[in-house]
Amino acid sequence: MDRIQAVDFDPDILRIEEFPYIPPDVVYADFTGAGQCPVSVIRAYSEDLMTTLRGNPHSINSASLASTHRMESVRSRLLDFFNAGDEYDLVFTQNASHALALLGQFYPWDSKTRLILSEDNHNSVHGLREDARRVGAHFEYIEVNEEFRLQETFGERIRENRFLYPDANLVVAYAAQSNFSGVKQPLSFVRQAHEVNADVILDTAAYVPTHRLDLQSVQPDAAVVSFYKVLGLPTGVGALLVRKSFLSRLSKDRFAGGTVKMVTADEYVLRSGHERFEEGTPNFGSIPLLKFVLDFIEKIGGIDAIGRHVQHLTTELLKGLNDVENVQIYGPRTMESRGGTISLNVLRSGDECVPHREIVEAAGESNISLRGGCFCNPIVGAKALGLGSEEGGRLIQLAREADEIEMPGAVRLSLGLANTSSDIVRIIEFVRRVARKY
Ligand SMILES: Cc1ncc(COP(=O)(O)O)c(C=O)c1O
Repeated sequence: MDRIQAVDFDPDILRIEEFPYIPPDVVYADFTGAGQCPVSVIRAYSEDLMTTLRGNPHSINSASLASTHRMESVRSRLLDFFNAGDEYDLVFTQNASHALALLGQFYPWDSKTRLILSEDNHNSVHGLREDARRVGAHFEYIEVNEEFRLQETFGERIRENRFLYPDANLVVAYAAQSNFSGVKQPLSFVRQAHEVNADVILDTAAYVPTHRLDLQSVQPDAAVVSFYKVLGLPTGVGALLVRKSFLSRLSKDRFAGGTVKMVTADEYVLRSGHERFEEGTPNFGSIPLLKFVLDFIEKIGGIDAIGRHVQHLTTELLKGLNDVENVQIYGPRTMESRGGTISLNVLRSGDECVPHREIVEAAGESNISLRGGCFCNPIVGAKALGLGSEEGGRLIQLAREADEIEMPGAVRLSLGLANTSSDIVRIIEFVRRVARKY
């Protein structure tokens, strides 16, 4: 079991001082959707904005240099934050999905490539299979068990693929932490994949807001991140953290402004490293805000301090929810290798789920923000609801006919830095109340 330590700051004071825009009677429990930004970060960035002339980077006038300097110093601080060493580069993207789209677009797929996906993935990872399919490559899914955990069979299937296809490009794609069940999937599969020369794409979007991603220790070939999930802002900025040797294997077969040194009527010469992939004007207005996000994380005791706080609250929440009758939790009911995301349904008359829309609306009436649906993780979502692969056709038919909000799904609670113990009490009371009503 992960060790739970006392929190490193006073969450009640933090909530009042740093999150005054979340009124005391409001509970925000959608942190896997988006983090919330401390006001000291917003103030520091506003001050920076108001005191600097900045221009479009990629030039040497002083306004341009001010932007370039701010962006590059953030890039280098982020590489340190993820303990990247010299092996990794960082490509700024719009979000995690954009980072995955770059991988899908430029990975050197061929018809012999074999893509091995965990079924516990966000749609933006599942989407890679369509890039594979386009060139006739093979893809296959590895199941999670009834606790939504990837099993040793994941490693076995990777090795089996290598044994059967010794010359194929093998690519493995999975999430370090599930945005559906909160399960932390073993990072050891990265090493296992490398032992048979497979490439690993690790989705760390739901992991990095509460965990330190140490690239030199985990060693994925590529990891993707959306920064608004860490502390709410900036939106529109993500990263592809990528091993330099892997980046140079991506076959960039197009150019745009910012990525190219020279273009003639017939030829072009691309820039190298991250510059090759950052098309057009980068988000120079928002990327520098990350300096203040990183300063804040340092000041509060590091990302692990945020993680411990979320672990502590999730322990309380799970304890409370485990005692409520007619609530089905999908995933571990203990804190073993799980993060602060809990998906559940309220049951009525036996096994029938109360529609998630009803619960989310009722929560809204009680000033509690939570999320309903499958959270873009539809294969695990269907599994949770007992809809086997044979029901896929019915779900596709339903998706063609019904409004998305009417699709079967679950209710997701996810915790973060701004939550306090009294939020947890409020959530448990609410779930108890709705479970009693049905
Ligand atoms: C695990 C996971 N991966 C990927 C994404 C996609 O992130 P974005 O929508 O910011 O691109 C999300 C978003 O919720 C996520 O939770």
